[in-house]
Amino acid sequence: MDFKGQHILEAKQFDKEGLLALFEEAKKMEGILDNGGGDLMKDKIMATLFFEPSTRTRFSFETAMHRLGGSVISNPDMMRTSSLKKSETLEDTGKTVSQMADVIVMRHPEAGSVAKLASKSDVPVLNAGDGAHDHPTQGLLDVYTIWREKGGLDGLTVGMVGDLKYGRVVHAECEMLSYFDVKFVFVSPEGLKMPEGLVDDARELVNLEEVIGELDVISMTRIQRERFESEEEYNKYAGLYVLDAELMKKAKDDSIVIHPLPRVDEISVEVDYDPRAKYFDQPRYGVAVRMALLKMVMA
Ligand code: NCD
Repeated sequence: MDFKGQHILEAKQFDKEGLLALFEEAKKMEGILDNGGGDLMKDKIMATLFFEPSTRTRFSFETAMHRLGGSVISNPDMMRTSSLKKSETLEDTGKTVSQMADVIVMRHPEAGSVAKLASKSDVPVLNAGDGAHDHPTQGLLDVYTIWREKGGLDGLTVGMVGDLKYGRVVHAECEMLSYFDVKFVFVSPEGLKMPEGLVDDARELVNLEEVIGELDVISMTRIQRERFESEEEYNKYAGLYVLDAELMKKAKDDSIVIHPLPRVDEISVEVDYDPRAKYFDQPRYGVAVRMALLKMVMA
């Protein structure tokens, strides 16, 4: 797979070979991180355009760029403070910013919006989350975490737990894991099931306790409050899944727990001290993965 000059908009752009090549590159980037960074992106500029809240994703992309010696121009509040407020189109914004930056990273609440901006951009655009649709780089870093922590992907049973309907990260994870010999278990309430067509042969159930002992990977996700039509609708699901120390006693000794974060209450803080909890290791893996992606897209 040749990523050079490509927009990264969807998880399904990757194939198995491309994923594994990216992971090998990310592992090398971990070494560069250990040494404080490099200069591969010297003289390059990244623009980060965020139309939705973010802690990890924006900082992660910006850290990746800085660690590779590049620079960043950033607007974390595009919705309020950019010219879109004056009715400029996403297409014109893309064309304009691409005259200044060498790569654009964008997050937006609407599915398809990043592709819209990318359609007129003269430089690669990387999707940092578009509504409930996709979040390819978080998918990459989640799958990379599994690959690193479990030493591979084939033969694993992966449970995805929580809001599988609106969770753009689980959608990306599914897409990427489906290239491997992975057994999927989807744990969600009836109203928040995984959309049809992502994976054909998953086991679906509502109760996590019933299945936790069979999982090699417990992939937790928050109920995506901002995607619901009303607060009342959200409240039907709030607090439904809580992974706590008691429940972790039933999980395999060599299982791992991942979560893209932020968490609300779906993982108790006590689980943070369990060596199987890997969600606070993920941010560092995320920087390495994004460094690798920048190299593949730009160098
Ligand atoms: C995720 C997102 O924004 O979709 N967060 C992230 O990028 N780390 C998950 C979420 O918000 O629940």
